[in-house]
Amino acid sequence: MDATATATPFSTLIRVASHEKHTEVNTSTFMSDLLGQRFGVEAYTRYTEQLWFVYRALEDAAGTVEGDPVAGPFVRPELMRVDALERDLTHLRGADWRAGLEPLPATAAYAARITECARTWPGGYVAHHYTRYLGDLSGGQVVRDMAEKTWGFARKGDGVRFYVFDEIANPAAFKRAYRELLDAVPADDLEKQRIIEECHRAFDFNGAVFHELEGEFPLSA
Ligand code: HEM
Repeated sequence: MDATATATPFSTLIRVASHEKHTEVNTSTFMSDLLGQRFGVEAYTRYTEQLWFVYRALEDAAGTVEGDPVAGPFVRPELMRVDALERDLTHLRGADWRAGLEPLPATAAYAARITECARTWPGGYVAHHYTRYLGDLSGGQVVRDMAEKTWGFARKGDGVRFYVFDEIANPAAFKRAYRELLDAVPADDLEKQRIIEECHRAFDFNGAVFHELEGEFPLSA
């Protein structure tokens, strides 16, 4: 038994273990071009479309996992993003935003993996939940700020609602509570390690989506 692993809170283990992957995704060409304000709004729209497929997978699974002792405590109504994404897409693409909308292959694979975890492995679902929602509550705010400045969306309004958690008054406190949930996950060290590995996969899926988006919007100046 590795005493260090047992003593270190799971929220710390998962954060430290994903640090490198985090750097990889947030310095990807797509993210750099997005944050560097080098894209037109159509790249941001295409990215938002991908998020809709991902969050639909995460949130359609809520009913499946909510009674589960491992994944259930993470299902929180104040995190739900699909309604906000649909408002953003209505603004970005118009009322018929759903017509002809298809995921990129990487997005389809990502969403399918989330759905598979929700059905067969709640710990894996937690990995995907953590990777997206805790990130949105953190770095997501940088993206919102950029999008408002670059394309003139109303502050916290249509177009950037995905990044606005209306029902979370204090994100720092929410993140602390979320980390407590992680620390309380009823899993042994081996299962925690598997969850961390799935978290790496989740980062890789995001990287693959960015890579395909880059392919659609080659740049740059
Ligand atoms: C624009 C690019 C990004 C920026 C600037 C950014 C920035 C940040 C920052 C500053 C934090 C630390 C927040 C804190 O300590 O409370 C954070 C945390 C996090 N980010 Fe990102 N991020 C970006 C992209 C991403 C992406 C693409 C993902 C994955 C899909 C991601 C996943 C996470 C996760 C899971 C955390 C929580 C770490 C933890 O405290 O356990 N981030 N991000």
